[in-house]
Amino acid sequence: LVGRWEGLREGAPVRYDEQRKTWLVTDHENVAQVLSDPKAFSSDFSGLTPTQEDFEVFRQGNFVGMDPPRHRTLRALVSQGFTPRVVTDLEPRIHAITEELLDAVDDQDQFDAVDALAYPLPIIVIAELLGIPVSDRPLFQEWATTLFGGDDLGDMLDMADIERALKAIAPTVREMNGYFLDHIRHHRKNPGDDLTSKLIGAEAEGTRLSDQEIVGFVALLLVAGHITTTALLGNALLCFDRHPDTVAPLRADPGLLPRTAEEVLRFLPPFPELGRRTTREVELSGAVIPADALVTAHLGAANRDRARFADAGTFDPARDPNPHLTFGHGIHFCFGAPLARLEARIALRLLFDRFSDLAVADRDAVVTQNPAVIVGARHLPLRVRRAP
Ligand code: HEM
Repeated sequence: LVGRWEGLREGAPVRYDEQRKTWLVTDHENVAQVLSDPKAFSSDFSGLTPTQEDFEVFRQGNFVGMDPPRHRTLRALVSQGFTPRVVTDLEPRIHAITEELLDAVDDQDQFDAVDALAYPLPIIVIAELLGIPVSDRPLFQEWATTLFGGDDLGDMLDMADIERALKAIAPTVREMNGYFLDHIRHHRKNPGDDLTSKLIGAEAEGTRLSDQEIVGFVALLLVAGHITTTALLGNALLCFDRHPDTVAPLRADPGLLPRTAEEVLRFLPPFPELGRRTTREVELSGAVIPADALVTAHLGAANRDRARFADAGTFDPARDPNPHLTFGHGIHFCFGAPLARLEARIALRLLFDRFSDLAVADRDAVVTQNPAVIVGARHLPLRVRRAP
C-alpha cells in the first residue's frame, strides 16, 4: 500500500484516471480544497441509486451523502444527541467492555485481535449507545461485510458497474431499513436514555427528524462507525509489529498514545478515498475538471505528501503537528472522531497493561479488507505474553 500511495503522488496532483474514470486528487492542499468546497464538489450521489424505495435508507438521514443546506440541518439535529459530553461519559463503559473482551481470551497465548477486540468493541459501544440489542451483532457484521467487504468493489470502473453493485446490495439495504424502522418505532413507544430516543426528541430550525431520517443516520453510525474503528485498532497493532522500536516508549509513557493513534491514522487511513461529484467546471492546480465528473480525493496519498509531512513515508509516533486528512476535512469532518480516538486510546492502553509482549503471530495469515474501500485487517492473529 505504501508503495502504491507514494506512486500515486508521482504524477500530476490532479489528473484524470482513464482506467477508473475519475479525477484523482493526491496532494494535501488540493484534497483539502476539494473537501472544503461542497458547492463545487458535491457529496450527493443519490441520483445513482437505482430503486428509490430500497435506497431510502441511504437517501434520508444519511447526511454524509448530502450537501448544504440539508446537511447542516441534519448534522445540527443529530449533534444534539451526540454531544462531546455523551462521548466522554462513555469512557468507563468502553474501559469495562475492553476488559471483558480481553478477559474472554485471557487463557490464550494466541488469538485473532479482530475477532476478540477490534471488531466487537466499537460495535458494542455503538449498539449500546443507540439502545439496539447487542445480541444482533452477527446481523450488523453481515451487513457491513455485504456493503463494504465485496472484493469486486475496488474494480468498479463505470456507472454500469456501480449500478450493478448497488443492485446486488439492495436486499441487504431493504433488510436494514426494516430492522431500524422497527427499532425507532419501539423507541417512540418506549423512550429511554439512549441516543435513538434523543434523536426522536431533537428539534432544530423548527424541524424534527422523521423516522426514515433517524433510520438513515442510525444505519450510517452503525455501519460506518464501527468498521473504521475496527480498522484503526488493527492498523495500530500492525504498525507496532512492523516498528517494534516504537513500542517501549509508549509502554513507558501512555500519555504518548493519543499522538501515536494520530500517526496510525495518517499512515494507514481506514477510508483511503472519498468520492465527490463536480457541480460545475472547476479548475484545480491547472487541471480543468468538467461539470458532473467523478472526483476521488485520495486521503492515503495526501497523508504522505512530502510537501506537508517531513519523512512522510516514515511511521513516526511522535509526529507533531500531524494534519492528516483521515477523518476528512470541512463540513463533513468525521462526526465520530472523538469516539474513535477515545476507543483507540483505551483499547491500546489496556492491551499494553495486560500484555508485556504483543506480536503478529503469522504475517501471512493477516487478511486485509479490500484496500480500495477499507484499509484494515479482517483477521489478525496475535501472539501475546501476559504482563507479570
Ligand atoms: C464522516 C472517517 C469513525 C461517524 C467521516 C468521514 C471520514 C470518516 C473520512 C468524511 C466523509 C466525507 O467527507 O465524505 C472515519 C474514520 C473513523 C471513523 C477513519 C475511525 C477511525 C467514526 C465513528 C462514527 C463515525 C466511530 C460514529 C460514532 C461518522 C459520520 C460521518 C463521518 C456520522 C458523516 C459526517 C458528515 O457528513 O457531516 N468519517 N470515521 N465515524 N463519520 Fe467517521
